[in-house]
Amino acid sequence: MRAWCFTDGFGFESLHLVDRPDPEPGPRDVVIAMRAASLNFRDLVVLRGQHGRAVRPPLIPLSDGCGVVTATGAEVGDLAVGTRVAPAFFRNWQGGAPPQDLEAGRLGGPLDGVLATRVVAPADAVVRIPDHLSDAEAATLPCAGVTAWSALSEPRPARAGETVLILGTGGVALMALQLARVSGLRTVVTTSSDAKAERLRALGADIVIDRSATPDWARAVREATGGAGVDRVLELAGAETLPSSLKCVRTGGTILLIGNVTGNEATLFLPAILTRRVTLQSVTVGSRQDFEALVRALDLHGIRPVVDRTLPFEDAPEAFRTLETQAGFGNICVEIPGD
Ligand SMILES: NC(=O)c1ccc[n+]([C@@H]2O[C@H](COP(=O)([O-])OP(=O)(O)OC[C@H]3O[C@@H](n4cnc5c(N)ncnc54)[C@H](OP(=O)(O)O)[C@@H]3O)[C@@H](O)[C@H]2O)c1
Repeated sequence: MRAWCFTDGFGFESLHLVDRPDPEPGPRDVVIAMRAASLNFRDLVVLRGQHGRAVRPPLIPLSDGCGVVTATGAEVGDLAVGTRVAPAFFRNWQGGAPPQDLEAGRLGGPLDGVLATRVVAPADAVVRIPDHLSDAEAATLPCAGVTAWSALSEPRPARAGETVLILGTGGVALMALQLARVSGLRTVVTTSSDAKAERLRALGADIVIDRSATPDWARAVREATGGAGVDRVLELAGAETLPSSLKCVRTGGTILLIGNVTGNEATLFLPAILTRRVTLQSVTVGSRQDFEALVRALDLHGIRPVVDRTLPFEDAPEAFRTLETQAGFGNICVEIPGD
């Protein structure tokens, strides 16, 4: 098999295409011939060597991918060769409360990821993919898709008629927008350009705010909600935007802490939380059961994730560079050839 691998460190200079022995399935494993992978902001953090001491080279990057089962272990009963599947982001979280060693089960660091022609995974840590999705679309689901699902489900499912604020147009944000629409939610989305704003409207966003033209976008969000604020904020941008998100959320509303694109350390005006019964709830992707629930919803509503572009396997480093520019709209994917 072939794989991209951080061989002896992180950074582009350490990312190499390598040959490895084909993986063999253990009794409860499946071998997957990967067909596509998808990048997340987190993969950039890994590339930069900023993901903490547990994530070490040699490491095959990327958590999100899709492929076809080519071999099964002797104890695997219900997954036939030829089934199209995606490995779950966490190998050790089936459902319910997360296990204490959750971080040890992540694909793409500390566990080897999916930017490889073949991957071995426990059969109970993969999810079947519906037919209406292309390989690249399906590849976006394990982290980006499940995170969007969790962000609309926790601490309780968003209810029809509620208003949700979504920051940006990355993979998580656009999947959340699509799910919010079929859930009957009113959507407010911020972005950085006219062109992206146009595409957001075409995807069905109710209110789009260009944050580059409207620096005080928090005020614009409040005005758009008659002064009340939104029921739920999907806080994907982090330190720089969290204080503004706090200004946008209604009394009794919820901010889902998801991303840190703009930094890790925020200063918050605590009375704005304490006196208004605001809930701050973090999202950590989700379990395999969450992944299965997402897939059922996508199947039911015929939702297809937004793929900005798909690059050839040999150009995987270029996919990281493209993600870094933040010029994309939706997911940056890599096509994986057979070997
Ligand atoms: N907690 C979890 O379980 C979890 C799971 C997945 C992802 N995440 C996090 O969620 C975040 C988004 O992930 P992703 O993979 O979707 O990222 P992405 O594809 O890189 O998209 C990031 C987007 O954020 C927007 N953005 C950048 N700077 C901003 C700013 N100052 N204000 C508002 N928006 C800004 C940009 O959209 P516009 O140009 O349209 O504004 C950009 O395209 C990342 O921090 C990631 O680590 C967390």
